Amino acid sequence: FSLRDYNTMQVEVQSGYFIEINTLNDLKELLVSKNYQSPLYILGGGSNVLFLQDFKGTILYINILGREVVKEDETHVWVKANAGENWHEFVMYTLQNDFGGLENLSLIPGKVGASPMQNIGAYGVEIKDNFVELEAIEIETGELRTFSHAECKFGYRESVFKNDLKGQYIITSVTFKLTKNYHEVKTSYGAIQAQLEEMGIKKPSIQEVSQAVISIRESKLPNPKEIPNTGSFFKNPTIMNEEYMLLQRDFADIPGYPVEDGRTKVPAGWLIEKSGWKGFRNEKVGVHERQALVLINHNQGSGQDVYDLSEQILRDVMEKFGIELEREVNIIA
Ligand code: EPU
Repeated sequence: FSLRDYNTMQVEVQSGYFIEINTLNDLKELLVSKNYQSPLYILGGGSNVLFLQDFKGTILYINILGREVVKEDETHVWVKANAGENWHEFVMYTLQNDFGGLENLSLIPGKVGASPMQNIGAYGVEIKDNFVELEAIEIETGELRTFSHAECKFGYRESVFKNDLKGQYIITSVTFKLTKNYHEVKTSYGAIQAQLEEMGIKKPSIQEVSQAVISIRESKLPNPKEIPNTGSFFKNPTIMNEEYMLLQRDFADIPGYPVEDGRTKVPAGWLIEKSGWKGFRNEKVGVHERQALVLINHNQGSGQDVYDLSEQILRDVMEKFGIELEREVNIIA
């Protein structure tokens, strides 16, 4: 079964088996009966995965749809969305109903079920800021379990599902707590301020913040339908403050944002650009010309072609800055 249309890097690989899951019950039955060929790989939107070769086992394509308001009080609504819902469409639904909280996360590719895995984030908001709980099914037993906010152990592009519980659960729904009537917009991120100014908006609504985010993303990030890509290919690394100060001697303009534990976060896009890779292209793959953190597959490259490019970038950034980049994308070898 070709996975080309199921990964946004549009890598042509085959899977041994491919099962589309439409209901929670079907998923439960499949897991309990163990009627599938191992190993399993759980696929959502395929926007954060790079296949290096054919996948011998079974791809479970989670397409459980549906969303609803499950609880409400004077100021907030609790909205539960099933894993197969498209993330951006879900955000648009919340904004159409004037529910606030997810507007900064507009136009992020992928599905709801994958959003807590890596605690998706953009423009000063991460899903952990509005997250209440999720339901996940244990692969081994088929049992459904609820995970609280604390149990998910969210961090920057991290959760328990990428660490201690890796490969053990399939997320089936996520519940968010969103504002109604009274909204607090988060516009401190520089790019949003600039965009709102350009739009001539002083007191933005949540819908206008979403509009601003969409404009920024469309101007910087390639649309995966036109130029195959998986968004940020690397994480933004953090280094010790002392190390950052040393680097400032050689690179006076190196950007950095203080984070916890005496560390500074440095934009990987800047490091890659300064290493000379921004806009690079070979016959098949390359680095986006407007955002160096995004690797692109402009001419039917393989997963290995993309991976090899990422290795070269890693090496050069290490050589020039002594900083080791970490891939954000899931590499399936
Ligand atoms: N920069 C450059 N050159 C580049 C790209 C970036 O110098 O080619 C520097 C600039 O100094 C810029 C800074 O990097 O001010 C930050 O750039 P940007 O605002 O584009 O954000 P980012 O740090 O590159 C992160 C997320 C994005 C998210 C944006 C906006 C990660 C790995 N990426 O990128 O998330 O949309 O912030 O909040 O944290 C994704 O994860 O797939 C993703 C797109």
